[in-house]
Amino acid sequence: MQQSIMSTLPLLLLLLFSSLFPAPSHAWGIHGHLIGRLSDAAAAAVRGLLPSYAGGNLSSLCSWADGVKLRYPWSAPLHYIDTPDHLCSYTYDRDCKDEDSFRGRCVAGAINNYTSQLLTYDATSPSTQYNLTQALLFLAHFVGDIHQPLHVGFTSDKGGNTIDVHWYTRKTVLHHVWDDNIIETAENDYYGEGVAEFVDALMQNITGEWSQRVPGWEECSKNQTTCPDTYASESIAAACDWAYKDVTEDSLLEDAYFGSRLPVVNLRLAQGGVRLAATLNRIFS
Ligand SMILES: *[C@@H]1O[C@H](CO)[C@@H](O)[C@H](O)[C@H]1NC(C)=O
Ligand SMILES: *[C@@H]1O[C@H](CO)[C@@H](O)[C@H](O)[C@H]1NC(C)=O
Ligand SMILES: *[C@@H]1O[C@H](CO)[C@@H](O)[C@H](O)[C@H]1NC(C)=O
Ligand SMILES: *[C@@H]1O[C@H](CO)[C@@H](O)[C@H](O)[C@H]1NC(C)=O
Ligand SMILES: *[C@@H]1O[C@H](CO)[C@@H](O)[C@H](O)[C@H]1NC(C)=O
Repeated sequence: MQQSIMSTLPLLLLLLFSSLFPAPSHAWGIHGHLIGRLSDAAAAAVRGLLPSYAGGNLSSLCSWADGVKLRYPWSAPLHYIDTPDHLCSYTYDRDCKDEDSFRGRCVAGAINNYTSQLLTYDATSPSTQYNLTQALLFLAHFVGDIHQPLHVGFTSDKGGNTIDVHWYTRKTVLHHVWDDNIIETAENDYYGEGVAEFVDALMQNITGEWSQRVPGWEECSKNQTTCPDTYASESIAAACDWAYKDVTEDSLLEDAYFGSRLPVVNLRLAQGGVRLAATLNRIFS
């Protein structure tokens, strides 16, 4: 028993931050933070749903949802939302669809989908209808994705994927700067290259600096279990205000961009973590 609890601890956080810490090595060493935010019922359900092989090697699950894009091609459009160019707004009815205009096939629709599936969870009998292990792995990953501002981006540049930039001396694309580079640079510059220290700093701000705001992050209007439309609207606003702002093809992004955008990344990581825990607590209440 003790062992399975211990193995759940790092996995939870690793799942939490999985979309923004894609390198498996980043996943190691993150311990015990989210568990404090999960109710007993939610922690037990999560423990029950995680595959047994997770105990042995957590890093293989960290990027599970990214890893199955080839095996499950239908899941690829579920990682993001394309919104109209330069409008800087999101609405579910207008924007939550895939390239074939299939309604609901976007990250907000996927969060609703896997939340509904997990609401059928019954500790006493495994679901015959859904694979709830997959539902949990998808949900955890997508709650992270939807908080990454450029996962809710403009249609024509594919959320910054077609905008070439230089991150200091390296060539990359704007989307990747927000997925990886800002976090990596922060780790290297401030946190002794350790993701654990970085996550500790975030957790400290969640219980300190930001504690007054956390109940507002957790809440959904009309008693919904989760509210991805809110998260997506915040992301496209942050994409316009921070990610796209002052960036053009071949922009050189260095200290000024890094210093002004890191607080936005920190906030979105924290909100994603808090909201995943709150969503799981409501699902398994
Ligand atoms: C765990 O999985 C990761 C990614 O799948 C792999 O790179 C790593 O070697 C594995 N570690 C162990 C101890 O099996
Ligand atoms: C909902 O989940 C099922 C099972 O994983 C999947 O086949 C379907 O494409 C999902 N739909 C959306 C919109 O996420
Ligand atoms: C559910 O999905 C997990 C992860 O892909 C897999 O390991 C497991 O075998 C699946 N369970 C069933 C009953 O198909
Ligand atoms: C935590 O909050 C302090 C004070 O606002 C800030 O300087 C620091 O960058 C924050 N750290 C993280 C990781 O959010
Ligand atoms: C939300 O749920 C709480 C507790 O179940 C209830 O007291 C409240 O009236 C509900 N609010 C709305 C808007 O449904």
